[in-house]
Amino acid sequence: MKLIAAKDYDEMSLIAARFFAAQVLLKPTSLFGFATGSTPIGLYKELIRKNADGKITFKYAHTVNLDEYYGMSRDKKQSYYSFMHENLFDHIDINPENTRLPDGMAEDPDAECAAYDKHIADLGGVDMQLLGIGHDGHIGFNEPADHFSTGTNCVTLTAMTIDANKRFFNSADEVPRKALTMGMREIMQAKKIIMVVSGKDKAQILYDSFCGPVTPQVPASILQLHPDFTLVADEDALSVMKAHCCKCCK
Ligand code: F6R
Repeated sequence: MKLIAAKDYDEMSLIAARFFAAQVLLKPTSLFGFATGSTPIGLYKELIRKNADGKITFKYAHTVNLDEYYGMSRDKKQSYYSFMHENLFDHIDINPENTRLPDGMAEDPDAECAAYDKHIADLGGVDMQLLGIGHDGHIGFNEPADHFSTGTNCVTLTAMTIDANKRFFNSADEVPRKALTMGMREIMQAKKIIMVVSGKDKAQILYDSFCGPVTPQVPASILQLHPDFTLVADEDALSVMKAHCCKCCK
């Protein structure tokens, strides 16, 4: 695991964006694994800027996303499909046909999950995966569990995740209860993984994930075993690790 400490959210976004810009320069046909949530927005803005300046092109790139709410159509503003178009795809030169998210309205979720994994495999696997982290250590929508999941799958969201995501809805009641998410195995199969984390509210879970044991009760902890994992986090997010961890961050 590599750790890059940024002073704040803006610096975290700039540093992380450089990894994605370098990847698309080195391999224009890269398959990127993207994430939604608040944290990657600054990074996406920076990629949009670099693309507009002509420094990078996404013309030949493909993307998949970690997850999508189940039972939510793409035209809803809270869908991850809408999020990705609003925050990235509509502002860069990517071919929309080269972007894919799980279909939240699929009649047969199992078939959709299998097709999604096949799509990733057919494209040669994810070259660079972007991750955020939930307060309970979830990555994608892989919540604390008794085992690490394999394969894109349909999951039931925890009360903590529903509570964290209600800010995008009128109330917690409107937050969908299920989602389709890439599994831990598919995330771990990405050739490179970059995680972005900002804010004091994530400091304890970062400590639990990267200074404690690898356990499915803290899903992100499995990233300790990835051969090319980089954590880009700001000072607030690193505050507990810096104070108490003896492994990687002193
Ligand atoms: C989103 C996703 C989630 C988020 C996590 C953190 O596609 O996969 O795991 O990365 O919930 O979200 P924010 O960045 O909003 O704190």
